[in-house]
Amino acid sequence: MRQQSHAAVAALAATAKAATLADVCTVSNVQAALPSNGTLLGIDLLPSVVTASAVYNASAGMGSTATYNYCNVTVRYTHTGKNDEVVLKYAFPSPSDFENRFYVSGGGGYSLSSDATGGLAYGAASGATDGGYDAFDNSYDSIVLKGNGSINWDATYMFGFQALGEMTQVGKAITPSFYGLSNDTKIYTYFEGCSDGGREGMSQVQRWGSEYDGVVAGAPAFRHAQQQLLHLLPATIEHTLDYNPPPCALDKIVNATIAACDPLDGRTDGVVSRTDLCMLNFNLSSLIGESYYCAEEISTSLGLGFSKRQVSKRQAQGSTSSYRPAQNGTITAQDVAVAQGVYDGIINSKGERGYFSWQIASDLDEASPTYNNETGEWDLSISSNGGGYVTRFVELVDADNLSSLDNVTYDTLIDWSYIGMTRFLNSLQTSFADITDFQASGGKLLHYHGESDPSVPAASSVHYWQAVRSVMYGDLPDDQALAAISEWYQFYLVPGAAHCGSNSLQPGPYPQDNMNTIIDWVENGIKPTALNATVSSGDFSGEVQQLCQWPTRPLWHGNSSDFECVNDKASIDSWTYTLDAYKIPIY
Ligand SMILES: *[C@@H]1O[C@H](CO)[C@@H](O)[C@H](O)[C@H]1NC(C)=O
Ligand SMILES: *[C@@H]1O[C@H](CO)[C@@H](O)[C@H](O)[C@H]1NC(C)=O
Ligand SMILES: *[C@@H]1O[C@H](CO)[C@@H](O)[C@H](O)[C@H]1NC(C)=O
Ligand SMILES: *[C@@H]1O[C@H](CO)[C@@H](O)[C@H](O)[C@H]1NC(C)=O
Ligand SMILES: *[C@@H]1O[C@H](CO)[C@@H](O)[C@H](O)[C@H]1NC(C)=O
Ligand SMILES: *[C@@H]1O[C@H](CO)[C@@H](O)[C@H](O)[C@H]1NC(C)=O
Ligand SMILES: *[C@@H]1O[C@H](CO)[C@@H](O)[C@H](O)[C@H]1NC(C)=O
Ligand SMILES: *[C@@H]1O[C@H](CO)[C@@H](O)[C@H](O)[C@H]1NC(C)=O
Ligand SMILES: *[C@@H]1O[C@H](CO)[C@@H](O)[C@H](O)[C@H]1NC(C)=O
Ligand SMILES: *[C@@H]1O[C@H](CO)[C@@H](O)[C@H](O)[C@H]1NC(C)=O
Ligand SMILES: *[C@@H]1O[C@H](CO)[C@@H](O)[C@H](O)[C@H]1NC(C)=O
Ligand SMILES: *[C@@H]1O[C@H](CO)[C@@H](O)[C@H](O)[C@H]1NC(C)=O
Repeated sequence: MRQQSHAAVAALAATAKAATLADVCTVSNVQAALPSNGTLLGIDLLPSVVTASAVYNASAGMGSTATYNYCNVTVRYTHTGKNDEVVLKYAFPSPSDFENRFYVSGGGGYSLSSDATGGLAYGAASGATDGGYDAFDNSYDSIVLKGNGSINWDATYMFGFQALGEMTQVGKAITPSFYGLSNDTKIYTYFEGCSDGGREGMSQVQRWGSEYDGVVAGAPAFRHAQQQLLHLLPATIEHTLDYNPPPCALDKIVNATIAACDPLDGRTDGVVSRTDLCMLNFNLSSLIGESYYCAEEISTSLGLGFSKRQVSKRQAQGSTSSYRPAQNGTITAQDVAVAQGVYDGIINSKGERGYFSWQIASDLDEASPTYNNETGEWDLSISSNGGGYVTRFVELVDADNLSSLDNVTYDTLIDWSYIGMTRFLNSLQTSFADITDFQASGGKLLHYHGESDPSVPAASSVHYWQAVRSVMYGDLPDDQALAAISEWYQFYLVPGAAHCGSNSLQPGPYPQDNMNTIIDWVENGIKPTALNATVSSGDFSGEVQQLCQWPTRPLWHGNSSDFECVNDKASIDSWTYTLDAYKIPIY
């Protein structure tokens, strides 16, 4: 039986390979491949508006010089009885390049990916969706309200998880038939994304688990309400202390913390590979009195770090000009109080924890005030990621930022998180910890997070991994639970790395090969034990490090490359939080 179906598939595959792109890339071939109404419940395809055209010698993917030939397809559908219209784009590789794969790429910020060609490099068909709210041109936050007080729930669910799940279902239904393969041909299905793209990946694992064979999720911006409110923490601290630190003082605190904590992992290489040891052993107060200097800065570029661009709107913001005078001073107790408060996270007036924060040694850019040319003072800068979340998602008024933090306390941040969490628990929060459906259908999950991420805290990923472990394997002894989960879900912290990329302040390793790793795991059963990551700058540039699989942590010996992954209970405990400011458990 098994042999027979392999032979049948091989024969059909041979037919498929014989076809040219021009043969298959026709409107009628796509129309014939559409699942008939009723096959995918709730999805009615609209055959009359299919488009298909061959694209030759296209470049695909940033920084790649490879070119591809593919079939550029658009398909539209309506939700049964709704009269809406969702536009899907697909890119089908030439029959000779197709390797029975389907690939989905995550977007970033409040934008879904609008590029359907990401799979071509892997011999995969791939797709993108406009979510039914014109997502190729709109970022979701700009249309979340139909008017003040009126939430666009259709767009909310589509952005939250549904649009990508449906795009994948339709794509997987079309793909075999498009190539003339039997409709039960196995199509290996992958998702890859970081930041909100990582959240989207987790949304697929949680809500469409059986559709995917392999998911690579980086720095997921999940636990959405708490994540967005965390962006308001730095300004709330400064407003509460009535002190706006010079940005140069914060930069110096970060640099000096990196220098002090770098050796704690056993090797002085410019990277704090153990922020846990830094948190347990380093006291920021020791930096009081150190001097700093930053030259005058006139920047006409975006002037924003990658993390901020990630969460900005799709539309180009245009260049903004910002000015900072030369800053020359010494770190004060107030500067340290701000930095310490940011790293401590959101704690309410009773001392209970509302959220954890970025790891110590992460860049403190989100706490930087803006310079006021008129007064010559540093002014409070309210993050629009946090402020815009409060106005649109909590207060439900169509404004893109809060105008002030008057009367806003740490308790307020937690109250707002609670409102946002409960309101969008089933759409944006993306924190369901029971992912049995994904696991039981054979899915493999590769989850990673830059340990010095200054936008989405690394502890957020640890907290989710811990939640899945306790929800799915709570009754197993520790070692058995670990063995069981790592069969299908592996989590890696990336030492020194920032948000979805390497970190100019810490020249550390970054994994570049995640898709090959997950393909090998899914299709060849090669289960990773570590993640290869290459150092791209600094004294160790070119070194390939084997990242430790959580919960083990890296430790070097004798400042050499002699290195091991250790189990360190005190370190793990430092990453373990109970969010006890809430009366319900927060996964
Ligand atoms: C599926 O349903 C839609 C909407 O009801 C309709 O426009 C379309 O023609 C149907 N497709 C087929 C193949 O009948
Ligand atoms: C694509 O590039 C190849 C190799 O450079 C060339 O032979 C071919 O004519 C090109 N095809 C088209 C449609 O431009
Ligand atoms: C793909 O097809 C759509 C619809 O016809 C068209 O708007 C788009 O420009 C095409 N893309 C490419 C790269 O040819
Ligand atoms: C494949 O096609 C057959 C015949 O059209 C149909 O009965 C079957 O349900 C289809 N299977 C899938 C997985 O779509
Ligand atoms: C911090 O370190 C970075 C990178 O080494 C450097 O560019 C910057 O000037 C330093 N800032 C301060 C205030 O020391
Ligand atoms: C850090 O040092 C300051 C000043 O010496 C001290 O007051 C504080 O308690 C220390 N913090 C910790 C966590 O040890
Ligand atoms: C910073 O200020 C100190 C004390 O006023 C001065 O000695 C030093 O030269 C200044 N540094 C720079 C780079 O201007
Ligand atoms: C701020 O003042 C500086 C120095 O006077 C000047 O060079 C700069 O252009 C001003 N920037 C803005 C944005 O007004
Ligand atoms: C958000 O609003 C505050 C207060 O008006 C302002 O300081 C801040 O620059 C704004 N942020 C952005 C990104 O617009
Ligand atoms: C919606 O609320 C915002 C913020 O309060 C206000 O500026 C705007 O005028 C309101 N829009 C309408 C149509 O009432
Ligand atoms: C802050 O609270 C005070 C006292 O309750 C109140 O008078 C004021 O209007 C509040 N400000 C804002 C911006 O809500
Ligand atoms: C990772 O790197 C090691 C050592 O350089 C190499 O042997 C191994 O094949 C690599 N693994 C993957 C998945 O690339």
